[in-house]
Amino acid sequence: MSYRVRSAAERRTEIQARATAMGIDEAFISTLVDTFYERVRADARLGPIFTGAIEDWDEHLPKMKAFWSSVTLNTGKYNGRPVPAHTKLTNVDPDDFQAWLSLFKQTLTDIAPSTEAVSYFMERAERIAKSLQFAMFSLPSLNTDIHT
Ligand code: HEM
Repeated sequence: MSYRVRSAAERRTEIQARATAMGIDEAFISTLVDTFYERVRADARLGPIFTGAIEDWDEHLPKMKAFWSSVTLNTGKYNGRPVPAHTKLTNVDPDDFQAWLSLFKQTLTDIAPSTEAVSYFMERAERIAKSLQFAMFSLPSLNTDIHT
């Protein structure tokens, strides 16, 4: 059995071809982010958390578009650090993450170009939500255990 190591450029081309076949492109990502955060702001549970924490939506929305472009199209447009942006939030609990994920799924179900695109985004959102929650809710308690 022999393996051929793909170059980063080949990998990127393959990911983009797969996403494009599902109807995912920059225009869709832009609409998705705008629509999702419009709904987040109007949501009884999530709205106050986000409006309290985000001062400049003209900065947040392009950042989130770059993030989803990097995650789903492998464009490398996002180079931020999601973990510290969330660990500094003190008024968020795991139920808020459930609410975030269901609103994201509902938004995708309403506007995504294909059912494959819904799963493609949700698989990634769920994986990232898990790792953010691990950093926010598990690590602090592990640290407490160590120091007591
Ligand atoms: C209840 C759940 C969540 C809440 C309340 C939340 C809240 C926030 C807030 C307030 C910010 C802005 C922080 C700042 O600029 O100071 C932020 C940034 C961000 N969030 Fe979330 N978030 C949640 C879930 C998620 C999930 C599930 C993802 C990914 C799938 C995500 C991805 C990001 C990214 C990429 C940023 C930008 C970080 C940066 O580079 O500055 N968030 N979030």
